[in-house]
Amino acid sequence: MNFPVTRMRRLRRTEAMRSLVRETHLTPGAMIYPLFICPGEGVRREIGSMPGCFNLSIDEAAKEAEACAALGIGGLLLFGLPAEKDEQGTGAWADDGIVQTALRELKKNRKLDSLVMMADVCLCEYTSHGHCGVVARDGDHYEIENDSSVALLAKTAASLAKAGADVIAPSDMMDGRVAAIRAALDAGGHEMTPVLSYASKFSSAFYGPFREAADSAPQFGDRRSYQMDGANLREAMREIELDLAEGADMLLMKPAMPYLDVIRAARERFDVPMGAYQVSGEFSMLHAAFERGWLEPERAMMESLVSIRRAGADFIVTYFAKDAAKVLG
Ligand code: PBG
Repeated sequence: MNFPVTRMRRLRRTEAMRSLVRETHLTPGAMIYPLFICPGEGVRREIGSMPGCFNLSIDEAAKEAEACAALGIGGLLLFGLPAEKDEQGTGAWADDGIVQTALRELKKNRKLDSLVMMADVCLCEYTSHGHCGVVARDGDHYEIENDSSVALLAKTAASLAKAGADVIAPSDMMDGRVAAIRAALDAGGHEMTPVLSYASKFSSAFYGPFREAADSAPQFGDRRSYQMDGANLREAMREIELDLAEGADMLLMKPAMPYLDVIRAARERFDVPMGAYQVSGEFSMLHAAFERGWLEPERAMMESLVSIRRAGADFIVTYFAKDAAKVLG
């Protein structure tokens, strides 16, 4: 069976042959594009650290969404930049909140029916302190309170479902939030709205550019008391188990490229639909190299996405969704 009988290169000779034996495929429908919605009209403000990504007012977001639908992209993940922030993050669950208003508008547009509208659930874009939950201060010391945060997140989820979100995606990493969100959705008559839990979300330096995009950098401290330590794979499996037990319908793994082993481990262990989030820093570092001419943009982009699918993700949340869909034709 060894050389010269076996020659691996026989099946690599032409693109037709390579295509025939290709194991992993990307499709536009398995990609989700994040949108950052801001107040105003006609606003299309490029995010400095994320070339080609914008803060968009609702009218501009609708145009962007139509472009995504035309490209066959699977869905959108909506984030909001509220006009005002406060200590509690009240903008997150306001019925006339920025994402709620955007959802009502987008859901009216029949050209967008092919897009799954996902709403991120977190408080960090809405709180003046930029943390994902309620901050309890005691002199110099502060804690991010778990249970009071969960109550607010559940309220937020219910209001987003009411506004028309197809999927509720909590990214806060508080304990017990999936169960509370499930209960709040059911109580609001949204028992058919699925929860995509960011079950395995690591405290990562790769979220840096997002915090510019969503204006959500913590004003003090960091997120290490709620997001996971990047060194821990077993803990990620426990987080997933707990979220599934609490009623999560799908999983989101995050970040993607530095955590491909965690995605693979989750794929082998859990038979539920699973996405991975190729986060802002993954996008920005590739772009920085593209701009310097250090990497070939199209090839590097597609290779990064295929690697995430090969690791086991069914779908990918990625800022490359539009560019990749164009390549896929
Ligand atoms: C909100 C949230 C963050 C991201 C998604 N949801 C930021 C964070 O946790 O600090 C990051 C996404 C990205 O970097 O693209 N909690």
